[in-house]
Amino acid sequence: MKAVFPGSFDPITSGHMDVLTRASGIFEQVTVTVMHNARKQGKHLFPLEERLEILREATAHLPNVAVDSFSGLLVDYMRQQGRSIIVRGLRAVSDYEYELQIAHLNRQIGDTETVFIMAATRWSFVSSSMVKEIASYGGDVSEMVPRASAQALRLKFAEAYAAKAGDTEKI
Ligand code: PNS
Repeated sequence: MKAVFPGSFDPITSGHMDVLTRASGIFEQVTVTVMHNARKQGKHLFPLEERLEILREATAHLPNVAVDSFSGLLVDYMRQQGRSIIVRGLRAVSDYEYELQIAHLNRQIGDTETVFIMAATRWSFVSSSMVKEIASYGGDVSEMVPRASAQALRLKFAEAYAAKAGDTEKI
């Protein structure tokens, strides 16, 4: 069976990577699809092309994983691709209510089945938004994201990282 792992991936974190790696061990093929989250409108750090580039690099070692993007409804994408299984990661109970609602709605409007994969507990508190906040102050996020994301964050917040390095040199 082939699955779709949709998300904003702005950028992909180690938690996402953990869920994706587990999914790639369960399903014959998994497509990671960058989609638009209306709740995060205008809040993206990385433009779509950069997110895709990061994803391609971060998933290059997983032979049964492909990267794609779509700008409409997830259920329309699923129909277009001939897929019915959606993979979503769960970090903590706090994710559950929102995910449950979307899973039910997607099933109602698109006849899809959502499979939840629990991220390892060490990633329970990692989110793209927290990672971006830490990186924006030049903080170390190398443990929380794959190398491709860390490099892209360093470029994006080059000034903050340079300032931080300057501070450290002074000490
Ligand atoms: O990583 P995210 O932001 O939690 O992913 C959410 C995403 C992008 C998968 C969700 O917002 C989505 O499916 N967007 C596509 C539009 C859609 O189908 N919306 C209806 C379900 S909320």
